[in-house]
Amino acid sequence: MESDCYHSRNEIETHSAGKQFAELLDKGDVVALFGDLGAGKTEFVKGVCDYFGVEDIVSSPTFTIMNQYFGTDSDGVEITIYHVDLYRINSIKELEEIGFDECMFSHNAIKLVEWPEKAGDMLPKVYWTVTISFEGEGENERKIDFNHPEKTVKLVEIHD
Ligand SMILES: Nc1ncnc2c1ncn2[C@@H]1O[C@H](COP(=O)(O)OP(=O)(O)O)[C@@H](O)[C@H]1O
Ligand SMILES: [Mg+2]
Repeated sequence: MESDCYHSRNEIETHSAGKQFAELLDKGDVVALFGDLGAGKTEFVKGVCDYFGVEDIVSSPTFTIMNQYFGTDSDGVEITIYHVDLYRINSIKELEEIGFDECMFSHNAIKLVEWPEKAGDMLPKVYWTVTISFEGEGENERKIDFNHPEKTVKLVEIHD
């Protein structure tokens, strides 16, 4: 099991981490995003969408639960991105109602899930975890930990 981390000092750096990380993603991948409210999970997703050239405005799906975006992968092929926020989900029944299971198994899409703790055992066997934690003295400092059972993540930290 490999684990790597990235230190972010502001939202631009978290966006950059998402954009760099996106390059490692393949169609079908699931990314579970852990972290408290305001940690920067949605900002990280914006960076991922930026990499895939998503033109829609990426916003938090806290109320809509699931947003769907279309981007283009490095081969110029259209790719679907699901951005799911389970914060307001309280039961497996609600997960079924939003079609979470079908979404997780959509092989042509990349799925990014905020509050994956709420998914119970409905996450697939293999997935990425990205954990954003508050750290240090400054209110904008974050540590982003990456984990995947088979892959390593090495991102470049650019601090200006
Ligand atoms: N290093 C940082 N990375 C990401 N967001 C940051 C950072 N420092 C401050 N922020 C602020 O924290 C908030 C993060 O919001 P958001 O991405 O919606 O969090 P979450 O989805 O985890 O609840 C934004 O208002 C952003 O400006
Ligand atoms: Mg969010």
